[in-house]
Amino acid sequence: MQPIIVNAIAAASLMITSGALAVEMPALAKKNGCTGCHAIDRKVVGPAWQAVADKYKGSAGAANMLIAKITKGGSGVWGKAAMPANPRISEADKKELVDFVLSLSK
Ligand code: HEC
Repeated sequence: MQPIIVNAIAAASLMITSGALAVEMPALAKKNGCTGCHAIDRKVVGPAWQAVADKYKGSAGAANMLIAKITKGGSGVWGKAAMPANPRISEADKKELVDFVLSLSK
C-alpha cells in the first residue's frame, strides 16, 4: 500500500512541476486566431514564438516593429509564407501579445 501512495504523490508533484514550466498560448492568442499558425516552440505556418523571441532578444524597437507587423502582415523574414494583416486587433491587445512573444526568449 505504502509504495502506491508514495508514487501517487511523486506523480502528482511531477504534474505540478511540469505544469508550471510549460508555457501555453494565452487566451488572447486563441481568440485572435494566432494559434492557427503559431505555437510556442515549433513552427506551424508561422515561426515558433520562442524563435521570434530569441531573434529579437535585446533589440530595441523590436516590440513596436512586431506590433506594426501584426497589424499589416507580411512575409520574407521567416520564409515565403505570409502573415495576414490583423487590422481589427486593438493596440493594447497587440502590445500584450507582443510582450508575451518577447517574454519567451531563453
Ligand atoms: C495565417 C497564418 C498566420 C496567422 C493567423 C498569424 N500569423 Fe504571425 N506569422 C505568420 C507567418 C507566415 C509569419 C512569418 C512572416 C515573415 O516571414 O515575415 C509570421 C510572423 C509573426 C511574427 C514575427 C514577425 C517578424 O517579422 O519576425 C510575430 C510576432 C507574429 N507572427 C505574431 C502573430 C500574432 C500575435 C498573431 C495573432 C494576432 C499571428 N501572428 C497570426 C503566419 C500567421
